[in-house]
Order: sequence, then structure tokens, then C-alpha cells
Amino acid sequence: MDSIIVTGGTELKGQIPIAGAKNACLALMPATLLSDEPLTLTNAPRLSDIKTMTLLLESLGAEVRSMQEGRVLAMSSHDLNNLTADYDIVRKMRASNLVLGPLLARAGHAVVSLPGGCAIGARPMDLHIAGLEALGAQIELKDGYLHADAPKGLKGAVIEQRFASVGATENIVMAATLAKGSTVLKNAAREPEIVDLVKCLRAMGAQIAGEGTATIEIQGVDRLHGATHPVVADRIELGTYMIAPAIAGGEVELVGGGMDLLPAFCEKLDAAGIVVTPTEKGIRVSRSNGRAKAVDVKTEVFPGFPTDLQAQMMALLATAKGTSVLEETIFENRFMHAPELMRMGADIEVHGGHATVKGVERLKGAPVMATDLRASVSLILAGLGAEGETMVNRVYHLDRGYERVEEKLSAVGARIERVKGE
Ligand code: EPZ
Repeated sequence: MDSIIVTGGTELKGQIPIAGAKNACLALMPATLLSDEPLTLTNAPRLSDIKTMTLLLESLGAEVRSMQEGRVLAMSSHDLNNLTADYDIVRKMRASNLVLGPLLARAGHAVVSLPGGCAIGARPMDLHIAGLEALGAQIELKDGYLHADAPKGLKGAVIEQRFASVGATENIVMAATLAKGSTVLKNAAREPEIVDLVKCLRAMGAQIAGEGTATIEIQGVDRLHGATHPVVADRIELGTYMIAPAIAGGEVELVGGGMDLLPAFCEKLDAAGIVVTPTEKGIRVSRSNGRAKAVDVKTEVFPGFPTDLQAQMMALLATAKGTSVLEETIFENRFMHAPELMRMGADIEVHGGHATVKGVERLKGAPVMATDLRASVSLILAGLGAEGETMVNRVYHLDRGYERVEEKLSAVGARIERVKGE
């Protein structure tokens, strides 16, 4: 298994390009199952999770041609020949469950393995199931698989979600595009990835309104056609690299993606004394006068502070002046980076969904262990400001969601290298 070594203490300077969004692309790719005509995605990110979704779609009989070094995905599901999403693929990546709605809508039947829990939480699918049942599907759990049937097709309905789940919103919206009649989805998720998915579905001929608000209305149509769609910028990659100069010092321009993708996050960086400025190409971030200031953070659904940037923010606050309280409200077990930061000398106390971070002068490099995608990158960020070397192990987590992290960071002056494992 590969590791990454970071030597701290170098200020950063230059530009970092931001790729297309993993979490948008993982919802956009299953949309190809809704039509027998080709769907092409441009600005696609080059990540192991995208490869896993490609394997899944191919296992259902879809074709996925990767072009321009993976930036363009030309997909077609003209010849769907299997309606089962196998456990062996789903257990590797829970976003595989986003084929459930499209398969059900297109073929009237789908069998999808339940993903099971993951490092950051139980992550049940009750909201996906409740929404699809409201559209008329019969869903049964058998041997770890969800068996979903709608032999006469789906029927529009009014659905009010208990929680604004991103995945459930995506599955329900995709299914409702081919349902008879209209669907009103209340308490829908408002994340930019949802907005991007709806833009793509509309380009395929879907009739949808209200994306980005809490109420999405879908008028079902008989069929969808082909389209080409550019994947929106990755706001989590953007936020991650905004924290790099905030920790290491210096000035970096993030090219691609604007502050509108991260309203609450930009506000918190500003409150911590980090200078965030919009530019023509993206966002410039600089930290000049010493340590950041402590701020309290509470993760929330969009437009609130994203849970996928909580670990990276903790890495910044570990050396801020003063004490910060981070509250994680989305996932029940998302502080596993805290003990690793404490190995580097951070002063953190975790109680349930709250972490109290007393800022220290400087962290010290140490060997640390990545536990999940965002935790792994927070350890690399912490290493940029630490004294000496930090070795982050199990970086396969990182490759799921970050393209060429060591190249992007060394291009702005960071001392970082990957050590190939056996
Ligand atoms: C998406 O996951 C993202 N993944 C996650 O990013 C992100 O953390 C999350 O949204 C929240 O923003 C992808 O888009 C592929 P949810 P998703 O359904 O759809 C509970 C990353 O690092 N819930 O909004 O799974 C659930 O347990 C990943 O890139 C139910 O209880 O998130 C969780 O506590 C990590 N029942 C909360 O809602 C359900 O049926 C949020 O889940 C569904 C969800």
C-alpha cells in the first residue's frame, strides 16, 4: 500500500487546477441508465471511484468509453442485460446504490446490494426506499439485496423527506423523470451536485424545476434522449486546497470553481483570518500574519458548512490561536482523524458529535494512518505546517477522491512525495 510523505514548513505559491466533482459524477454516470441513447460527460475527474462506477455500469451491460485521459466519459446503456448490482462492487463504493432509481424507472425491476455500514457511519437507505415506494415500487430485502419492482411503471407522488439526504434525493429525482404524472419532492437536498444532476437530466429531456431549493418538481416523460454534459467543479477538492495555504502560509489561486459553491465554508475561513478573494479564474487564498484564529464550526446540509470539509478544517484549527468547537451533525462517527492529529501533537477532546480543539503553536510530523477519504487528506494538510516529516499510510483512501494530490501540491511548492507500497 502506498504512503505519502510530507515535509512541513514551506510556504505555498502558485495555482492549483480544480477537477470535476466526484460526487456529481457518481450521480451523473447512472443517469445514462435512464435512456437508450448515449450520454457523454466532459470535465470528468480521474479517480478510482469513477473506475468502480464504470465497472458497475459495464456489469449491467452499459458501455463506458473513457477518452482524453479520462476527462470524457462516453456512455450508452442501449443493451442493458443485467439488472443486479453485485455486492462485490457495491461494498467497494456505496454510491453504487445510485443505480437503483434509474434501473427501476427504465426497466421496472432492479436488484441492488445493500452497501452496509462504512467508517463514518451506519448510513442506512430507508429514505431511498421510502421515496421509491411512494412512487409505487415494491421493495423487499432478501439476502442482503434490495429487490425492487414496478411492473406497471412508476407513478408520480408527493414525497416529504425526513432528512434532506443527497443520495435519496438523487435516486428519487432520477426515478421520477420517467414516472407517470408529476412528483413533488419536499425537503430535498440542495447541494450543487443535485443542481448539476438536474441540469444534465433536463438536457436529456426531463421536465424538472426547483433544483437548489427544498422543493423539486418533476413532470414525468415517456422517454429521455442523449446529451452531453460538463461535470461541475469539485467544491470539496476546492475547499481542501483552500486550506493548504491557510495552514502552510503563502498565497494560492484555485482555478475552476467559485465561492458560491462554498458559502458557509468561505465565511468560516474569513472569520479565522484567512484572506479569501474571488478571481476571474476562481479563488485566491492567502495567509500572511501568523496563525489562524479559532472559530466554532457546525456541519450542516447545503448551504451550511459541508461535513466533507470538517476534517480539513480541524487540521487548520489544530494550530489556531484559541479554542474551537466542531460539531458534526451529518455522520455519527466522523472524528477518526482526531487521534491521528493528536499523534502529531494536537490538543483535541472528542465527546460524541463534538470536538474541542485547543490550538497549539505547531504540530510535529509523525507516522499516521488514513481511515477514510477526507480524514486522509486532512493529515496531509496538517503535515504541510508541521515540523519535520509526516508519513500518511493507507493513502488508497485518498485516491478515491483526489486526483494526483502530490503533483498538485508540489506544483505550488509543497515538499511531498508518494512512496510506492509492495
Ligand atoms: C453524499 O453521501 C456524499 N457522497 C458524501 O460524501 C457526503 O458526505 C454526503 O452526501 C453528505 O453531504 C456522494 O455523493 C457519493 P446522505 P450520501 O444520504 O448521499 C443519513 C465524500 O467524502 N441517511 O445525504 O450517502 C445518513 O446515514 C462522501 O465524498 C439516512 O438515515 O449522504 C447520514 O447520516 C462521504 N437514511 C445522513 O443521512 C437514508 O436513506 C446524510 O446522508 C439516507 C441517508
